Formats: sequence, structure tokens, C-alpha cells
Amino acid sequence: MAVNSRPLPTLPVLDDPAAEQVLASGLLPELAYAFGGPFHFLLPDAFDTNLRAMQDTLAAAEVDGFVYFAKKANKAAVFVERAAAGGAGVDVASVAEFREALGHGVRGEHLVVTGPAKDPALLHLAVQHGALVAVDALDELDALATAALTGRVRPARILLRVLPPAQPHSRFGLSQTELATALDRCVQAGDAVRMEGFSFHLSGYALQPRADLAAHLVDLCLKARVQGLEASRISIGGGLPISYSDADSWHTFLAEQNSGHYHAGKTFHTGDFYPYHSPVAGAAALAALLATRPEGHEQPLAALLKEAGVTLLLEPGRALLHQAGASVFRIRGVKDRDGYQILTVDGTSLSLSEQWFNSEYLPDPILLPQDPAGPAGTFPASVGAATCLESDMLTWRKIPLHSQPRTGDLLVYPNTAGYQMDSNESPFHDLALPPKVVIDQTDRPRPRWRLDRHFT
Ligand SMILES: Cc1ncc(COP(=O)(O)O)c(C=O)c1O
Repeated sequence: MAVNSRPLPTLPVLDDPAAEQVLASGLLPELAYAFGGPFHFLLPDAFDTNLRAMQDTLAAAEVDGFVYFAKKANKAAVFVERAAAGGAGVDVASVAEFREALGHGVRGEHLVVTGPAKDPALLHLAVQHGALVAVDALDELDALATAALTGRVRPARILLRVLPPAQPHSRFGLSQTELATALDRCVQAGDAVRMEGFSFHLSGYALQPRADLAAHLVDLCLKARVQGLEASRISIGGGLPISYSDADSWHTFLAEQNSGHYHAGKTFHTGDFYPYHSPVAGAAALAALLATRPEGHEQPLAALLKEAGVTLLLEPGRALLHQAGASVFRIRGVKDRDGYQILTVDGTSLSLSEQWFNSEYLPDPILLPQDPAGPAGTFPASVGAATCLESDMLTWRKIPLHSQPRTGDLLVYPNTAGYQMDSNESPFHDLALPPKVVIDQTDRPRPRWRLDRHFT
């Protein structure tokens, strides 16, 4: 059903030669046949590039820093292996993540443990392996001191996580009063606790609040040192933005989209969409953050860190996974509706995550037709899942596809490695979780692939 009326909004992704090479290679239909269901492919070389860019940015700003990959952003083993090989640590928040990271080559002292109300077994593992723990509550601090005394192996290495003054309703972090108590307890704990500094994680992607809070944490370090504590590092958590699309496409999309552009007249609040374009992204956002002058200070953040002898720790998830993978579904059915079609694919929206935030993963999926010589035109289509739920839509938006979608064609959602592909996956309807395929040599005429060690 080709349509020529008013154009529907689109959100094309930025150029990504490695992914384009995979799409052009003919590999994806073969893998779809082999797996008989949806799958993800991973491009870990992009992870290496993103990691190196961040490390180079720290070096260029002459800031002593260390990058931890926030493992929650993707469950694949390969990214942990690349983090270990690339001189990064890993941010973990469960016993399973801790074990995974250790088992895939990350040294215990290169782990940082984050998250609220941590499992005692996790705290114990952290002490045994010399991992850093971002303490989120006073009882956690007590439990760590006890674990260190009981194990008699080494001190508990800790950061104190701060409740951000600008986000006072956050459920994470210690209030000012709790911080004062925590510092006293660290002093009293003596050799059982090594208080290495402070941490935060802010919602949103703005740089100025991050620079302001980082500067505040540097001040806290200076004060804690007066109490005889080490206080030599701060962690600024994650939240480095990435750009999926160019500025023009994103702003045009936001200006034009309305409920008529979605299946069933669905409405999304534009404020709930991820900012699919940011003026600075990834390592460039880190550079901009280091160059930002925190409020009330004469110097940029980089200079404040250097002057205070404070090491900068960061825990990027999404930003390390930019262009590091995509998700592939097969179209199982095509239905006509008034002026558009509904495609049903062989997976669920749980493999795209965003619906769970009252939102939608907006970058345009790419149709790989079985018959490339099929009719051309504009074919608007929304994408539903292979489940019984009315609301299980991968894409409510009517995507203006450029060739006619047919049963058996593949639909590729680009750049999904950061959270989208697996953070919410579940075996609903007893469907198998989509396997992950690692493609690490895209520059060959025929890309090489293997399964990630996590098959399920
Ligand atoms: C403590 C902490 N660190 C790091 C991250 C990673 O954030 P991002 O993927 O936005 O970089 C998160 C995300 O929730 C987090 O809670």
C-alpha cells in the first residue's frame, strides 16, 4: 500500500559503516534462518573505539581518571572482555554481574559495586576481591566494616554516594546528615574501611549539573581529608549522552510528530523520548564536562580535579555501546489498516525496552527485503510483537518504509546495544531469548561471526 500524501516523520540514524557492511553482506538472512527467531548482532570494535576515545579525552585534559563500563547496559560477555582488555573496569550491581565480570577477566580491584540495598553476599564478594563499593546507606557501611573485620583479608574500599541536592527526591544516596554520620563511622572503623571518596549518578544528560555536583564532591574530599580519610577520588556515574541521529532530523521529528503518526492514535510526550541528538555526545560530552566551569568556581572542572589531586571515575553504559550492535527481527505477518500496515515480527517489544518508559525507540528500522527488486514507494507501517498483548508494539509510529514489506523480510533496529536490546528481555510466551552474535571483523568481504558466550 504505497502512500503519497503528507510525508510521515522519520528519524534516520547517523552513518555507521561497520553496521552497513554487515547489512550489505547477506549474513543476516542466513543467521535469521539458522536461529529461527530474532537475534542481536554485536560490534565490539565500536566499544573499543568509544572506550579509547574516553581514555584519550581524560589524557588530553591531563585528568587522572578511570572508566568503568556500566554492565547493566548490556548483558553480553564480549563487552566485559573488551573492557578488561582495554584497561577499563566494570560497574556491577548484583552478585551475578560481579561473577560475570570476574569470570570474563576483570580484576576485582577494577570493579565498582553500585545500586541500592546491596545483597550481603555482594558486599562480602566486594571485600574479598578488593572491589570499590559505592555505599548507598549507613547500614551498608556497617555491613562492609563488619565483613572486612570478619574476613581479616583487606579493608573495605568505599565511596560514599551522595543524594544529589538538585534531585532531592532521588531514592539513591546519603543525605547531608547521613553523610556526616558516615564520615564519622569511617574514621571510627580505622583500618577496616578505606574511604576513597564520593560518588553520584544523576538522571538526565545535562552537563552543568554534573560539573556542579562533581565540584561539590571535590570539596567534600578536601574536607574528609581533614578528618584523616583518604578521599582521593570521585565517581560521576553514567549519563554521557549519545547521538543516534543528526540535529536537523531530530528537531524536525520533534516539531512534526503528532498522534496521527502513530498506530491507534497513540500519544507520546516528547519529554519522555530519549534525546536522540545531543550537541555533544560520548567522549566529546566528557571533554565538554571537563571544560565546564562549575557554579561558584573560577576554573573548569578539569583544573579543580588536578589541583585537589582527585581522580575522576566514570561509569558510562550507553555511551560505550554507541554503534556496538543492532537487533534483527523477521516479519511474520502483514495486515492492512487505514492508510498503513501493521507488521508482526517474530519477537517482542521487550527486546527494544523503551516502551517500558512510556516511550518508544525512535531511530528508523531498516527493512531488508527478500526480493530487493520489489515495488518501490513509501509504505507506512507500524510494528507489533508476536504476543497476545494489544500494547506489545515494537513501533507504534507509522514508519515510512521505502519498499514494500512482506512476510519473511527482515527488519533491523539499529544501534540497540545500549539498554535497548536486552535490559528488559524476558521469555514471555516461552519464547527463547534472542541470541547474541558477535561480529568482530567487519572489514572482511564476508564478516566473521560467533555466538557471545551468553546464549540465553
Ligand atoms: C550508578 C550508575 N552508574 C552508571 C549508570 C550508567 O548510566 P548510562 O548508561 O546513562 O551511562 C547508571 C544507570 O542507571 C547508574 O545507575
